[in-house]
Amino acid sequence: MDKLVIDGGRPLHGVVPVSGAKNAALPILVATLLAPGEHELHNVPELVDVSFMLSLLGRVGCPSLVGLGGSPDRVRLDTTRIAFCEAPYDVVRKMRASVLVLGPLLARCGQAHVSMPGGCAIGVRPIDQHLKGLEALGCTFELDGGYIHGKVDQLVGADMTLDFPTVTGTENIMMAAVLAEGVSVIRNAAAEPEIVDLARFLRSMGARIKGEGTDTIEIDGVPALRPARRPYSIMGDRIEAGTYLLAAAATGGDVVAKGAPVEDMGAVIDALRETGCEVDVDGDQIRCRRSGDLKPVSISTQPHPGFPTDMQAQWVALMAIAAGESSVQENIFENRFMHVAELLRMGANIQLNGNTALIEGGGGLTGATVMATDLRASASLVIAGLSAEGTTEMLRIYHLDRGYERLCGKLESLGASIRRLPEDTPVVVGRPAQTTAAV
Ligand code: EPU
Repeated sequence: MDKLVIDGGRPLHGVVPVSGAKNAALPILVATLLAPGEHELHNVPELVDVSFMLSLLGRVGCPSLVGLGGSPDRVRLDTTRIAFCEAPYDVVRKMRASVLVLGPLLARCGQAHVSMPGGCAIGVRPIDQHLKGLEALGCTFELDGGYIHGKVDQLVGADMTLDFPTVTGTENIMMAAVLAEGVSVIRNAAAEPEIVDLARFLRSMGARIKGEGTDTIEIDGVPALRPARRPYSIMGDRIEAGTYLLAAAATGGDVVAKGAPVEDMGAVIDALRETGCEVDVDGDQIRCRRSGDLKPVSISTQPHPGFPTDMQAQWVALMAIAAGESSVQENIFENRFMHVAELLRMGANIQLNGNTALIEGGGGLTGATVMATDLRASASLVIAGLSAEGTTEMLRIYHLDRGYERLCGKLESLGASIRRLPEDTPVVVGRPAQTTAAV
């Protein structure tokens, strides 16, 4: 296993290309199951989660080829035949998003056998709303041996209201409803930009969808879909882009994120501006620079277009540096503050009070050995390490490989000192030697 070693305190400067969005790529890869034939996708990020999804599709009987024409972001998938309607435990336990095959398999094959995803580091994460929506379309489910066995003779459009605007739940239901007989309306649907990208992709295969990006999605079912005529390009990753902009703010740097879905990033851009950073938008580029002190800014996570939960951990790291008090409230997941204990080890002053982190920032962070617990917690610790005095050693970095394409290379190109080393490589962690001697 590898670790990251970061020598902090260097302002980041330069232009960083934003990769395709993980959370758009995963449902879009799965959606190819709905239309038998060959599909070509572009701007697919090279991530472990994408590899997991491609291997799951391979297990179902749909082979893929990555790196068309020498471009690693181009993928061809052949969904002509589906041999097994199953997402087995050994795949689902590695990646919860595997549950996204449920809707497409039911729509295409009339049956699906999907291992029930368990909880994970950030919460219990049930899938009751996915099942409720699919049941409204006529599916029946049985739970046996840890698997959900679903079947349906004919999907029939329905009007339904979700109890919570779940992102993958909305996607699962949309992917079944496109092949249902008649009209479906999903109320209290999630409005995240990745759902808009999925709807765009489904339309490119012949689906009829309206209202994506709002809380009411209307779908007029069609008898069959066919692969899109042209390669489909996945949207840029707003969370990856936001993470680099926060890293620029944290280090007092000047970074341009290029290829960012600018219109989808309003809440993060506004919050960054409130901290005193200068944020300029030009086409698909966002520039964030900081010359003065960071001001503390409180945020509270909300479904889109509110402040995204996937940027919460990174914001906590930024606020640990800003002089003064701020609060960060998490309203989407019940247990998404695992980064706080690690930030405390770097000298942050944060108190957890239920779903709120109270931060007294500005004391300065110091390098330490820290452990990543989930993807965004890892990103938070990277930001902390980049701005800290001295050396930070980060363990369990496999989470980062799931969601950040070439993180080390991109940060290095911005001037960071970040190395990926085997975990047993000896490293002196903490303040640089001369500073320690002076203390
Ligand atoms: N929920 C239910 N019942 C359900 C579904 C969800 O109670 O049937 C609850 C969850 O337990 C959670 C809340 O609703 O408390 C929100 O969950 P949601 O279903 O919206 O999350 P998700 O679809 O499982 C996606 C992203 C997450 C992102 C969330 C929120 C993908 C593959 N994952 O998860 O991304 O945090 O939406 O925006 O799209 C990440 O990238 O790091 C990540 C965790």
